Amino acid sequence: MDGNGRWATQRNKYRTSGHKAGVNSVRKTIKQASEIGVQWLTLFAFSSENWQRPEKEVSMLMELFTRALKKEVPELHENGVRLSFIGDLSRFSDGLRKRMKTVESLTKNNRKMVLTIAVNYGGRWDIVQAARHLALALQNGRIKESEITEESFERFLSLNNAPHPDLLIRTGGDQRMSNFLLWQAAYAELYFTQTLWPDFDESSLNQAVEEYYNRERRFGKTPKQVKEES
Ligand code: IPE
Ligand code: MG
Repeated sequence: MDGNGRWATQRNKYRTSGHKAGVNSVRKTIKQASEIGVQWLTLFAFSSENWQRPEKEVSMLMELFTRALKKEVPELHENGVRLSFIGDLSRFSDGLRKRMKTVESLTKNNRKMVLTIAVNYGGRWDIVQAARHLALALQNGRIKESEITEESFERFLSLNNAPHPDLLIRTGGDQRMSNFLLWQAAYAELYFTQTLWPDFDESSLNQAVEEYYNRERRFGKTPKQVKEES
């Protein structure tokens, strides 16, 4: 979700108001995604690199995140959304961490959609923390060296219970992954749009989904094989 700051600057406003407008896009996009049958939605809200921003912007983002958690969760819960948070949560305040845990346990039996919020998340961090847990498992004899495969390694990653993402949308015009789900998105269809995140609306999501359905996903196979299989 990129482009909040530029959206605000274009309007001669503080970046803060762009982030506030971004929260509205988040709310609407979650609702629409759930309505069109998306079962897994993962939002990149705050990267491990975002701490480098001016202190004021960081603390405002934390405040906005805290407030949104309080305000938005009841309706999400009502709509059958299960929430989970991925990233290095140890960097957050005790209060915020506790709130995230509470929200996860409150919504854990919801089945309509799994909404994962990536906060203080980085794809490289994810792979390294998985390697560390794997090393521990090896040490304790819970896994043998010969059992280390892509499948078993994945169980140590964040999103370990989720299917790999089909579609990765980045708003704001930049065409890069910026350390998002590096491992998990190996075969995701990448969709880049100039639209700034606060302007991302119903037709923007529809457009992305339509584009997705026009892609041919071959996973290394030939077009002929793909056609025969479908
Ligand atoms: C994305 O918008 C929001 C966060 C990273 C929290 P930006 O704040 O990166 O907006 P731009 O890229 O400066 O326009
Ligand atoms: Mg940005």
